[in-house]
Amino acid sequence: MPLTDKKYADRIQTAFAKYPDKRSAVMPLLYLAQEEYGWVSPEGIAEVAELCEMDPTQVKSIAGFYTMYSEHPKGKYWLQVCTDLCCALGGADQFYEELKQELGVDDGGTTEDGLFTVEHVMCLAACDKPPMLQCNFHYMENLNMDKMRAWIAEKRAEAAKAKK
Ligand code: FES
Repeated sequence: MPLTDKKYADRIQTAFAKYPDKRSAVMPLLYLAQEEYGWVSPEGIAEVAELCEMDPTQVKSIAGFYTMYSEHPKGKYWLQVCTDLCCALGGADQFYEELKQELGVDDGGTTEDGLFTVEHVMCLAACDKPPMLQCNFHYMENLNMDKMRAWIAEKRAEAAKAKK
């Protein structure tokens, strides 16, 4: 569904209302495109460029600069595990290895069911709560694999229920 669909009209207008010109709303609209397409796709780039009255190349360069925008298709749950120093001291490396094993993917990989993408990232400023990750921009902290297995099972059950 394109961003021009009426379901997004209010959010787009709200973004535009915050800034003196349309170009300044490019980042919130990129979030919207990512939400709609699951990543910052070429369609999303083109639509944001049109809405913001910008060149698509400019919009793509902005999306490419920031790590919170994904330039590749990803799973429904985008798990970014911090493996930076403080978290590494708190077991993040082992946690990340076990999480990848549990999901059967490598770094940056997506599970076959399309539900989970995992990657490691640098500090997310929750250094006192390792292991931690960011899932679709929501923090999950003080993790261990028992918690993760339960959470993964819950998300898989929700997905299976939604298919019925
Ligand atoms: S080192 Fe992991 S959140 Fe800071």
